[in-house]
Parts: sequence; C-alpha cells; structure tokens
Amino acid sequence: LSSTEVDLSQIQEGQIVTVKWRGKPVFVWNRTAADIEKAKATEISALIDPVARNANLPAEAPATDQNRAAEGEGREKWLVVIGICTHLGCVPIGHMGEFDGWFCPCHGSEYDSAGRVRRGPAPENLAVPPYSFVSDTKISIG
Ligand code: FES
Repeated sequence: LSSTEVDLSQIQEGQIVTVKWRGKPVFVWNRTAADIEKAKATEISALIDPVARNANLPAEAPATDQNRAAEGEGREKWLVVIGICTHLGCVPIGHMGEFDGWFCPCHGSEYDSAGRVRRGPAPENLAVPPYSFVSDTKISIG
C-alpha cells in the first residue's frame, strides 16, 4: 500500500499540518519546547492510556513523551499521529482544550501535547502510524 511523504521544512514551529495517508488524516506537529516540556512532565500514572500506541515500537512500550515523539537527536519536536479520535472516529481539533493538544468536538475527549488522551470518553491515545525519516527534513508515513 502507498506511503505518504511529508516535507518537514515547510512546517513552522508550533504548527500542526494535516496530511492524508491511506485516506486517513495524519497530524504532523512541530512542537515548541514548552509543548515538549509539558508532555515530559506528565507522569504515566496520570494517563488514561499508559501505552505508547506507537506502531514503530513494541506493543507494550509505555506512553512516555519519548515513545510518542519521533526518534533521534533533535527530532523529539516532531509528533506524528493519526487524526482520528479513538472514541468513535471524529477528527479532533488541534491547539484546543485544557491539555494543549487536541479537543474532539463530538463528545469532548481531550488529548495532550503528546497526543495522549487526558479526558474521555476516548479510551486510547491517538495512534502513531509507522513512519521513518528519509532525510533530516522528510518523513515517509507507511
Ligand atoms: Fe471523539 Fe467521541 S468521537 S469524543
């Protein structure tokens, strides 16, 4: 099946861009230092879903910010998640809600700056799709 390439050099700091991958929206967020710091400061015990849900990691990997964000030096600012609410599949709205991530307009779920669910009814973190860096400024999803 097809993959989607994303040119990261076009995404400003703080900006979330939505791309399509296999017909699904994928959010690519160039997070600020403050966004990252806040996500890192959150204890796993405070999370509704303690599992990373990252297709690039083992299924049991914990939902630390490091396990949610892109891997590699200088790449932790990149958060890549499938833009489908894990409750009933609506598309959450970025930069909204109490947790600095996304707010789902359908039933009020909220996600933080690592895409982790912080207020239900959504049961799981936003899924991280399989992706890799093809250069310092380009990722390939899928
Ligand atoms: Fe998002 Fe229900 S679909 S909260």
